[in-house]
Amino acid sequence: MWRHMAKSVQLLVDGKPHDFPVVTGSEGEQGFDITKLRADTGLITLDPGYGNTGSCQSAITFIDGDKGVLRYRGIPIEEFAGNPDFIEVAWLLIFGRLPNQEESTRFRARLTANAHLHEAMKYHFEGFPADAPPMAMLSAMINTLGCFHAEMHALKGDELFEEAAARLISKIRTIAAFIYRRLHGLPYMYADPKLRYCANLLHMMFSMPHDQHRVDPEIEKALNLIFVLHADHEQNCSTSTVRMVGSSKANLFASVSAGVCALWGPLHGGANVEVLEMLEQIHKGGLTADNYIEMAKQKGSGVRLMGFGHRVYKNYDPRAKMLQGISDRVLTKLNVKDPLLDIARRLEEQALKDDYFVARKLYPNVDFYSGIIMRAMGIPTSMFTVMFAIGRLPGWIAHWKEQSEESTSRIARPRQIYTGPVDKHYVPIEQR
Ligand code: ACO
Repeated sequence: MWRHMAKSVQLLVDGKPHDFPVVTGSEGEQGFDITKLRADTGLITLDPGYGNTGSCQSAITFIDGDKGVLRYRGIPIEEFAGNPDFIEVAWLLIFGRLPNQEESTRFRARLTANAHLHEAMKYHFEGFPADAPPMAMLSAMINTLGCFHAEMHALKGDELFEEAAARLISKIRTIAAFIYRRLHGLPYMYADPKLRYCANLLHMMFSMPHDQHRVDPEIEKALNLIFVLHADHEQNCSTSTVRMVGSSKANLFASVSAGVCALWGPLHGGANVEVLEMLEQIHKGGLTADNYIEMAKQKGSGVRLMGFGHRVYKNYDPRAKMLQGISDRVLTKLNVKDPLLDIARRLEEQALKDDYFVARKLYPNVDFYSGIIMRAMGIPTSMFTVMFAIGRLPGWIAHWKEQSEESTSRIARPRQIYTGPVDKHYVPIEQR
């Protein structure tokens, strides 16, 4: 059924009409273009948190938050469940279509060839204190990587871009593994060219020089799916950051490094850490899921049900549904009896029928289950957001590329409504 489509929007400013053209997306989404608003009316819009602001037009990912729909380049996320190949998804997001056999083989070969880091980068890891936050290390090391690949700063043409993307996607995995090894005082393990992307990450994290870590295919598949489900989510906080930084023509490495910092926050990627900490707090504090839900409902308690709610989804996050299924399989396979999982299930069950959560359309999001799966794999909580960053990297790269190819792209520079003091004068220090 077609809904009514607006063609233009008329705004009355002090009785004078101003027309603005309506832009319609390929899924029928509409927005009115206010590019000329300030020039025509002297007004700007005020939209804290950008909940009503379209910052760009993008052909990468579509989300219908009311219906719980997520599609990468038009393909529903559910179709990746049986074919969870993160590398194929990365290429799809960046280059706009699924790779053919030759392209897929070539991209994989580039990833293998780029798995190592410059040996001098090892000294950078040594410079961090042993309790450094992994996301700070990740952001710093991606910027450092840019110093070692300065020839990749001016990316002209798809050939060079594919090489740059392969370097980043391959090396972020090595950086992540080295962060883990550094923080645990373990010797660095190099990538094994025989292993695929996820198995190689687990190998670099968990093998010892005398003892190769055996990667269970079910676990490899689960990690692959986690990465696929995190690969892009249109204009979220970290992706918008990558675009914002990239709009100044900062290079890809610097822009992605800024994206890592944005992802770090507990209301964004850091939420997967907070979910686990919340479950542990409930478990260790002898609380019940029901007690915690009551606390989260109280205004001013400062408590939120972490892993619940989303700015865009006002329905079940489809990624959470997919992870829920795989978490059961992984825990059964690894024979893990985790009391935290029981608490998580109880929280979900209770929140989904509680009036407070129902009225505000607060459903479990992707972070609710990803942490439990990673914990079962032996990945420490402190590394969860780093894992999220590995998964999100193809999306950041795709958005940076899309923006850099727009002929109309301008430096991002929002306006503000100033509310500070007016007409004040400088007072010399001796008179203050
Ligand atoms: N627990 C309890 N109450 C909540 C929660 C929650 N998790 N989330 C929102 N609410 C309530 C708010 O208190 C508010 O109530 P009110 O209308 O009575 O004032 C209402 O729901 C709307 O909340 P907002 O904060 O305005 O929603 P917003 O869209 O700004 O925030 C966010 C979305 C940040 C994700 C929020 O739901 C949240 O803090 N969730 C927990 C953190 C989390 O899981 N983040 C991961 C997001 S997904 C991702 O980044 C991968």
